[in-house]
Amino acid sequence: MNNIIYMDNHATTPIAPEVLEAMIPYLTTHFGNASSTHPFGTTVKDAVDKARQQVANLLRCSAEEIIFTSGATESDNLAIRGIAYACREKGNHIITSTAEHHAILDTCHALAAEGFETTYLPVDKYGMVSPDDVEAAITPKTTLMSFMYANNEVGTINPIADIAVVAAKHSVLFHSDAVQGIGQLPSDMRMLGVDLASLTAHKIYGPKGIGALYIRQGISPPDSLFYGGGQELGVRPGTLNVAGIVGLGAACALSKNYMETGKSCVSTLRDTLHQKLSAYLEDIHLNGHPQQRLPGNLNLCFAGVQSHALLMGLKSVAVSTGSACDSESVKASHVMVAMGVPNELALTTVRFGLGRYNTAEEVDIVADEVIKVVNRLRALAPE
Ligand SMILES: Cc1ncc(COP(=O)(O)O)c(C=O)c1O
Repeated sequence: MNNIIYMDNHATTPIAPEVLEAMIPYLTTHFGNASSTHPFGTTVKDAVDKARQQVANLLRCSAEEIIFTSGATESDNLAIRGIAYACREKGNHIITSTAEHHAILDTCHALAAEGFETTYLPVDKYGMVSPDDVEAAITPKTTLMSFMYANNEVGTINPIADIAVVAAKHSVLFHSDAVQGIGQLPSDMRMLGVDLASLTAHKIYGPKGIGALYIRQGISPPDSLFYGGGQELGVRPGTLNVAGIVGLGAACALSKNYMETGKSCVSTLRDTLHQKLSAYLEDIHLNGHPQQRLPGNLNLCFAGVQSHALLMGLKSVAVSTGSACDSESVKASHVMVAMGVPNELALTTVRFGLGRYNTAEEVDIVADEVIKVVNRLRALAPE
């Protein structure tokens, strides 16, 4: 694996050395239960408090607004189902978009099967939701809307603050699956104007299996999906994953530092890769918004080259076709379908997800290899 270049940072990121270092004591000597009142417990409780504050610092919110979960899938489920149930007296209508992650879409499908009304708004050719469409979809029964901050496949950034204005005007709660945006894009919850937001550590150089849900103070909390010991204000009971929480906190502190010091040159590397590929290959198409997209995202269609064949041909780079969860599938991803990309072209999609640790040298190697393999596969294709 040492000579394979990792460019799949939307699927997951490597753990930053600083994050691992912060976690190790909580996997070894500091093994206590954060709910215990003796020193083994209070030591780790202090670490949990510190981590909660580190998450809050990145989100510019208060620590009391952060609930730890097992990751964004759980945060999304808790936000959507928990709010749907908590607001059932007021209404039963939820609005989302066709380009959301399956953690949102499948949760909405499940609620629909229970009798909730769900609206899936279309997105434009870049994968973006229109605030006007959102406003038009609101009914007196709408209690919740959920739109992702940035798309995990094509990187397109939704106009979250504008949608939040619409939500507030109609007193509808607004959740955002902010997994791909937090830590890379402005992450101030008040500025974004959302009521709830999901995040996960493993997309920001933290460990897997730990995430959080931001719940704005003043809103009625989501119903808990579990019964148990009352941890996390009873919204998410269960013994806290202390090492994971410490890792999430450290990852948030590191991301905040990265954003504030402007150390990141990910978008420059991404643009260089795009330019090199465009200079040597004809008939490649950029998916997603050309400007309003994640700094490390480069999602391309290589016309005439099936993406799984291209992936198999690439020996020194790890990239993905569509979202990671779909990488076994030869069906066009639901995001490509939602954006109206023709099926034949959609099946040629490759997602390059550049991250903090990629280098200019790696970009050169990847560009050379992709050009070589695409040319070879195109030469083999029947006329
Ligand atoms: C946009 C988005 N939402 C939710 C998830 C699920 O996150 P987790 O792996 O923490 O459950 C992912 C991860 O692929 C994602 O990209």
